[in-house]
Amino acid sequence: MFFSAAAFSLAALVSSVAAKTIEVQVGSANGDLTYSPEAVFADVGDQVVFTFHQKNHTATQSSLAAPCSLVDGGQDSGFMPVAANQTDDFPTWTITVQDTKPLWFFCRQGENTAASHCGKGMVFAVNCGQDGAPNSFTNFKNAALAIGAELQASASAASSAAPATSAAAATSIDYSGWTTAAYGTATIPAEPTGSIVTDTITAGSATWTTTYSSYPGSPDPTPSSAAPNVIKVVVGGANGELTFSPSNVSASPNDIISFEFHQKNHTATQSSFAAPCLRLKDATTGNVIGLDSGFMPVGANATEFPTYNVTVNDTAPLWFYCRQHAPDGSSHCGAGMVFAVNAVEDSPRNFTAFKALAGSLNGTNATGASSGSPSSGSGNGAPAGAAFSAALSLGALVAAAAILL
Ligand SMILES: *[C@@H]1O[C@H](CO)[C@@H](O)[C@H](O)[C@H]1NC(C)=O
Ligand SMILES: *[C@@H]1O[C@H](CO)[C@@H](O)[C@H](O)[C@H]1NC(C)=O
Ligand SMILES: *[C@@H]1O[C@H](CO)[C@@H](O)[C@H](O)[C@H]1NC(C)=O
Ligand SMILES: *[C@@H]1O[C@H](CO)[C@@H](O)[C@H](O)[C@H]1NC(C)=O
Ligand SMILES: *[C@@H]1O[C@H](CO)[C@@H](O)[C@H](O)[C@H]1NC(C)=O
Ligand SMILES: *[C@@H]1O[C@H](CO)[C@@H](O)[C@H](O)[C@H]1NC(C)=O
Ligand SMILES: *[C@@H]1O[C@H](CO)[C@@H](O)[C@H](O)[C@H]1NC(C)=O
Ligand SMILES: *[C@@H]1O[C@H](CO)[C@@H](O)[C@H](O)[C@H]1NC(C)=O
Ligand SMILES: *[C@@H]1O[C@H](CO)[C@@H](O)[C@H](O)[C@H]1NC(C)=O
Ligand SMILES: *[C@@H]1O[C@H](CO)[C@@H](O)[C@H](O)[C@H]1NC(C)=O
Repeated sequence: MFFSAAAFSLAALVSSVAAKTIEVQVGSANGDLTYSPEAVFADVGDQVVFTFHQKNHTATQSSLAAPCSLVDGGQDSGFMPVAANQTDDFPTWTITVQDTKPLWFFCRQGENTAASHCGKGMVFAVNCGQDGAPNSFTNFKNAALAIGAELQASASAASSAAPATSAAAATSIDYSGWTTAAYGTATIPAEPTGSIVTDTITAGSATWTTTYSSYPGSPDPTPSSAAPNVIKVVVGGANGELTFSPSNVSASPNDIISFEFHQKNHTATQSSFAAPCLRLKDATTGNVIGLDSGFMPVGANATEFPTYNVTVNDTAPLWFYCRQHAPDGSSHCGAGMVFAVNAVEDSPRNFTAFKALAGSLNGTNATGASSGSPSSGSGNGAPAGAAFSAALSLGALVAAAAILL
């Protein structure tokens, strides 16, 4: 961010004028982790009014040296929870600027955990230095982001020590190494390391205990309100799009993914990262456990669209695909019609990798892609070949598939 010298001299010039009020928006209806604007210039006597939007933020005074910690004797708004469905009467908190020294602020939600809002750059300054100066806003924000990166790295190290928060107990999750895909020829990256956290959630008048997996970069485990946040995902479209839109979202526990089916005849079917175009199966029993909307045929001139809702229960990634095939037998999934919730973007199991894997395993170039046989992958969606796949080596699988097709 650039602050010109002109802005400074202007601030100096107007210092004798009547005190003014400077408005700062904290968070937003989209759940942004921002103060807007993120830096302001104020004269002695001016008031800075923080207005708190959705989620549960603070404005807490820190120092340039320790951007994500309450400074000794610093001011603190306290937590300002705002429900996702609140549209007005947002709470405010006001400070009066006492001198012209820089003031540094951060949001202490998720303090000292990988979910730290400050660590994700949610910081704010009054009267900071210009860009290039040691006390510039850029330097302050970069120092906060560095703390966030460190917190994420130590969370990935997933030591069994150090629970994420005082109210939560964390243990490390087992994760397997790189493997070969259950079908086709592809290498599957290891799962990102997460931790299982048990926490007591309070939202509005409701309190409940929840256990969830938390990953580096996971969204907040704490819902912003007892009322679920509904995330609409449009499936297909009037122009025959083979898409989920948006294709990947971040959701907190208790949120609802509402698939809205548009033209054509699609499904929203749960899979796994490693087998993007097969229904999710229990690793031990091999039974299909993945959620499935079933086929949702929607006419070309439809104006009402059926929905299928999935409640998000933790912050672990969820993977979905459409199990329809085109009349030529090519698979919608292989054409990239996939969707993810909470994919860990800075890991090899990111959404781009998931979509690419669907293409390489079920796309038109895939070996063993169901071609010319629309019925092989339809019906209830669990092709007979799938049950064998876990137990068979790749060579044996190819042989088995040849028999089945
Ligand atoms: C707001 O966040 C704080 C700290 O995480 C938590 O203690 C508090 O319960 C939250 N309030 C609501 C209403 O979610
Ligand atoms: C928000 O949701 C809560 C819980 O469902 C409800 O009690 C409250 O009335 C809602 N508020 C608004 C403004 O709709
Ligand atoms: C939707 O697709 C499924 C699977 O291909 C098929 O069985 C069903 O008949 C289709 N429904 C309509 C109305 O086209
Ligand atoms: C939708 O279009 C079809 C074919 O064009 C037509 O037969 C049908 O009556 C239309 N339905 C409505 C509700 O307009
Ligand atoms: C899914 O949720 C939306 C929004 O809450 C609601 O309008 C819709 O009726 C729900 N659909 C189903 C099938 O329950
Ligand atoms: C979350 O839990 C509810 C209730 O047990 C269940 O209906 C829903 O399918 C679960 N969601 C997922 C993504 O598994
Ligand atoms: C996303 O996944 C792809 C494929 O595994 C990988 O090349 C890329 O580096 C990943 N992105 C990040 C940020 O890790
Ligand atoms: C993931 O979703 C975001 C937001 O909709 C979008 O900008 C991005 O392109 C998506 N990623 C991929 C690989 O499609
Ligand atoms: C299929 O393979 C050809 C040749 O290697 C390549 O150019 C094309 O991009 C591939 N298509 C897909 C969908 O992977
Ligand atoms: C993806 O490919 C596998 C192996 O050929 C097949 O069993 C499965 O049905 C395909 N999935 C879809 C949705 O086409």
